[in-house]
Amino acid sequence: MIIKYIIVAALALTIFSSCSEDNTSNTTTNPKVDQSKSIAEVATNAIQVGKDYHSFSNPESIKVTHLNLDLTVDFSKKMLIGTAHLDLQKVDQNATQLILDTRNLTINSVTAMGEKVDFGLANGDSFLGSALTIDVPAAADSVLISYQTSPKASGVQWLTPEQTAGKKHPFLFTQAQAIHARSFIPLQDSPQVRMTYEATIRTPKALLAVMSASNDPKSQRDGIYEFSMPQPIPSYLIALAVGDLHFKPMGERTGVYSEKGILDAAAAEFADTESMLIATEKAFGPYSWDRYDLLILPPSFPFGGMENPRLSFITPTVIAGDKSLVSLIAHELAHSWSGNTVTNATWRDLWLNEGFTTYLTYRIMQMVYGDERFEMESVLGRQDLQADIDSLPDKDQIMAIDLRGRDPDDVFSNIPYEKGALFLRELELKVGRENFDQFLLNYFEKFAFKSITTDQFISYLEQTLLKDHSDTLSMQRIEEWIFQPGIPEDAYVPESDAFIIVDQARDAWLEGTVQADEINSEKWVVHQWLYFLNNMPEKLSQEQLTDLDKVFALTKSKNNEIAHSWLLISVNNWYQPAFNRLHDYLTTIGRNKLVKPLYKALSQTPEGKIMAQKAFAEAKSGYHPLTVKANEVFVQ
Ligand code: BES
Ligand code: ZN
Repeated sequence: MIIKYIIVAALALTIFSSCSEDNTSNTTTNPKVDQSKSIAEVATNAIQVGKDYHSFSNPESIKVTHLNLDLTVDFSKKMLIGTAHLDLQKVDQNATQLILDTRNLTINSVTAMGEKVDFGLANGDSFLGSALTIDVPAAADSVLISYQTSPKASGVQWLTPEQTAGKKHPFLFTQAQAIHARSFIPLQDSPQVRMTYEATIRTPKALLAVMSASNDPKSQRDGIYEFSMPQPIPSYLIALAVGDLHFKPMGERTGVYSEKGILDAAAAEFADTESMLIATEKAFGPYSWDRYDLLILPPSFPFGGMENPRLSFITPTVIAGDKSLVSLIAHELAHSWSGNTVTNATWRDLWLNEGFTTYLTYRIMQMVYGDERFEMESVLGRQDLQADIDSLPDKDQIMAIDLRGRDPDDVFSNIPYEKGALFLRELELKVGRENFDQFLLNYFEKFAFKSITTDQFISYLEQTLLKDHSDTLSMQRIEEWIFQPGIPEDAYVPESDAFIIVDQARDAWLEGTVQADEINSEKWVVHQWLYFLNNMPEKLSQEQLTDLDKVFALTKSKNNEIAHSWLLISVNNWYQPAFNRLHDYLTTIGRNKLVKPLYKALSQTPEGKIMAQKAFAEAKSGYHPLTVKANEVFVQ
């Protein structure tokens, strides 16, 4: 343990000193540094708590409070062209410069009170983009920026008609989290800056625009769409999609937007969204965002889902026909509380968004689908976490991760999600569910529409749960969860009775005492299949793979998660009968979580790499910029 402390300290200090040149000039040292603290505490304190190392902006001097966008969507140029009007609040009355984040934007002009003002666009950083510095006249309380995006904007994907389900119209969607809003809007791209927004979006007449704002399901298709988001949100939640979209209601407050071809299937798959919403409100307090709709994107959407307020963006790869993958909806819905209402102040604090949300997801699944589903999903989540603990370096296993000098896109893992959720589960088990639910309810209320740091969370915990339950909780244990790698000893281990028969079947089959066709699997659900496959030994023989595939038709599985697990086994064991499906999978799906492990596995052998290169070359033009960036390393 002592060695770990020193490693953490050394690492943090090295990174800190290499960053200090460009980052510390206008900030003060964290007053919390205390000589009596442990090395680990000093090391983490060397990070300026609450400082956003991923934004050039200066909200401590001038803060953007409201955004008014007017954008024309030009599909032929692959550009958004128009204006961003920013309302400003001077925090420092003497401040004369507004600093915004941008990436690959062309700034045509900046005006304040109708007059042109001076601005400067810095040279681009490799992943942070370029600071836009605007001279703000003393009397001005807003600026108007005329700009256009680049066709290569990292936060925008432009799809040709052929890349959509309907094949007739083009499609566009944005994905701003973590630091991509700056590639389509000049703004203070930091989760600690909250703003309300309005937008006018001008599109070709046949298309519909939707945003993370109030959407009118009955809106006329006339090519001019108006939106308003009256609650203050961080920039990473601003989102836009344009396409041949249609709407189908699912419940009183819930509905689904998608291309026509998948609308009915999507509405049937996600029909329980309204029940999820009602259950979550009952347990964790009122829903603050009016409607909750889903937008189903084309399969190139790089994530499973994105919690854009009032309108979660969802991959079509979870439409399985049996609601087996709808925990994704519970997850994006849960973000309406943890993330959108109470927001991480910096990307170091991402676990406050994703850990709380993952914990809530399990709870919603239990409320809506029962204990067995809850237990199975908890076990699978724990196994995903273990895979990361076994493979990631220590520094990347820390929940309050040090991201200085790193692109948040490169550090995506299960740690903030599943380790965060397991930590909260431990708190729940130690204080009792009723007390913990009350704590969560108060937490969501207390920090509503605020962006908070890990340290603020810890002090809140100290003043509340910890004070009332000092017999079962300790600060030392809490800090171990948050600031140390690995999982604390004796942490709770989720279990599922439904998996016992699966373990027995797998063991017997591996021993050769039963053949695949003797396994009594007629009643197995998707989660049992995933558990069956994900826990196979690394090496299987061709005979074993053929036996499984013949009996269970795994290569043909229509469930994208099962297909993923099977294709991974197939790559790792060079099972060629699955390779046509593999190629098809890699060239039709762009969800990074599903394709990246396959590219990675293929890249381990020369023959595999050739297959990966072939699939990647074919798929690249249809992949989102994030999926390209995450996978091109495996085909070089
Ligand atoms: N907010 C995340 C997606 C995200 C996180 C984008 C960090 C960029 C940076 C979203 O809610 C999410 O967690 N999606 C998961 C869902 C899964 C855990 C159910 C995904 O896309 O896989
Ligand atoms: Zn999430």
